[in-house]
Amino acid sequence: MNMSERISGFQASPIRRLVPYANEAKQRGIKIYHLNIGQPDIKTPPQVIEAIRNFDKEIIAYGQSEGELALRKGLLEYYQSFGIHISLGDVMITTGGSEAIQFALMTLCDPDDEVIIPEPFYTNVASFARSAMVRLVPVTSTMDKGFALPPIEDFEKRINAKTRAILLCSPNNPTGYIFSPEEFEAILALAERHDIFLIVDEVYREFCYDHHSFTSVLRYPQYSDRVIVIDSFSKRYSMCGSRIGALISRNHGVLEGAMKLAQARLCPPDVEQVAAIAALKTPRSYLDEVRNEYQKRRDFIVQALRSIDNVRCTVPNGAFYLVAKLPVDNAEKFATFLLRDFHLNGETVMVAPAEGFYVTKDLGKDEVRIAYVLNVEDLARAIACLKAALDVYPGTAR
Ligand SMILES: Cc1ncc(COP(=O)(O)O)c(C=O)c1O
Repeated sequence: MNMSERISGFQASPIRRLVPYANEAKQRGIKIYHLNIGQPDIKTPPQVIEAIRNFDKEIIAYGQSEGELALRKGLLEYYQSFGIHISLGDVMITTGGSEAIQFALMTLCDPDDEVIIPEPFYTNVASFARSAMVRLVPVTSTMDKGFALPPIEDFEKRINAKTRAILLCSPNNPTGYIFSPEEFEAILALAERHDIFLIVDEVYREFCYDHHSFTSVLRYPQYSDRVIVIDSFSKRYSMCGSRIGALISRNHGVLEGAMKLAQARLCPPDVEQVAAIAALKTPRSYLDEVRNEYQKRRDFIVQALRSIDNVRCTVPNGAFYLVAKLPVDNAEKFATFLLRDFHLNGETVMVAPAEGFYVTKDLGKDEVRIAYVLNVEDLARAIACLKAALDVYPGTAR
């Protein structure tokens, strides 16, 4: 029997679709360094684990569709801590930032509507858009320009009657780029001119390196009506499996619309919200230490990659990913080769082919996304594998 055309058109996630090869390699006794997925090796704050251990309700019951009040209040305080004032009515707790993206797209867009997005972008957005039957219209950002926001005219050219929103991610997955206040001002003015929304995924806001600082799009109250923020606990507190995120907007029409979806899915996870409330009490020193650790990893991996012949990457300013250009015929084939046909002393590395992070056909074919989520020793071994594999892979340009 046939499945829907919609589902047939979905891509299998480039972050996860090579997992069967990784599992086979593990069965052969090969150790794999997972740089394909943003799963950090950073420990979850102890009070989060403790809160789960101490969970003492007798029933794990359905909760409020918009999330538990204590968690929503806690988030307000968290935002206040970096100078952003939002109200209770502006916040909905979601099952991960993933659900917040889906709610935003479903709430703003009808089938065949369009959302403009700089590419490369977080690949799962393509699946969320497809499930909402929304067309993603790409504006290409390039490695040569450090993946900066493309010129505003490039966005404006793509706006038409079907355009409902622009979707940005800052700090960016996969490029690490952090949008500047000037870029936000320009894009917000554009959104205002054309009466469209701006959705900004800020899930990596705590991970900014060197002198780069984070600008939240919530800093522009004059544009409140058209701004939606995606937030998540996953990476900030290294609790990816907990599946707690948030949809934030001062436009209550957006939250009222999303509430219909929230009610249909009943509520976000209960025990995990208790954990998230505990996470909000994490001392700033934890976040500072984690940020410093990622910065160290970033410095290491950029230098290690650039020391390999014909490998290129930019220095990411934030998040914990980078896009690397490799001297290979096809990054997907190379990533498969790493898992199926290669090991260095019983070890290999898994990376995400970058083609699925683009909409434009044929872009990203010689690129991979690397998540520098492992400690420096493991990164060193992973990059040694990558280098040795490039030496023997038949499709390496020599
Ligand atoms: C940019 C971005 N947004 C959203 C998500 C989804 O996060 P969550 O685990 O909260 O669903 C991710 C996860 O990697 C991400 O990188």
